[in-house]
Amino acid sequence: MKLPIYLYGHPVLRKVSTDITPDYEELPALLANMYETMYASEGVGLAAPQIGRNDRIIVIDASPLADTFPELDGVKLTLINPTVEVLDGERIVRGEGCLSLPGISENVPRVEHIRMRWLDENFEQHEQEFDGFLARIIQHEYDHLEGRVYIDHISPIRKQLIRSKLNNIVTGRTRCDYAVRYAPKKK
Ligand code: NI
Repeated sequence: MKLPIYLYGHPVLRKVSTDITPDYEELPALLANMYETMYASEGVGLAAPQIGRNDRIIVIDASPLADTFPELDGVKLTLINPTVEVLDGERIVRGEGCLSLPGISENVPRVEHIRMRWLDENFEQHEQEFDGFLARIIQHEYDHLEGRVYIDHISPIRKQLIRSKLNNIVTGRTRCDYAVRYAPKKK
């Protein structure tokens, strides 16, 4: 089942999400729905806040980017309660987009090298280092669990330049090919 994607401006995207436990209700169904939603909207990652849940759950399938980054072919990750540690300080700037910010793409500086600990869908523990574009995708999705979005990392000048586009998203005046939930109207 496809789920609507919560857009920039919605408070659910600004809360710090909480760890889940093995008794989390209907996790397999939720993960299946998250993958289906991500594929239908042509994203390569989706974090639970984007479907309106402040739970620390992320799905990633980076395969669509394999034309540009061959190492991403077949890379699929289900992340439960991940923690990300930055391993080196050099920041590389590359373009990013986000299903919660339709019609926008901005250059974002991020470190190239991280270590992540996470649980898979069976609550088995993993630890691995990641670099390159996959490290970027992970940091982008992990930001969602911390109440951040990628444009938090761009310069105030860039943010000013896309302000009207952001306002259109916040006020529900944007067009999108997938089902969305807008921010509640301000009283
Ligand atoms: Ni995103």
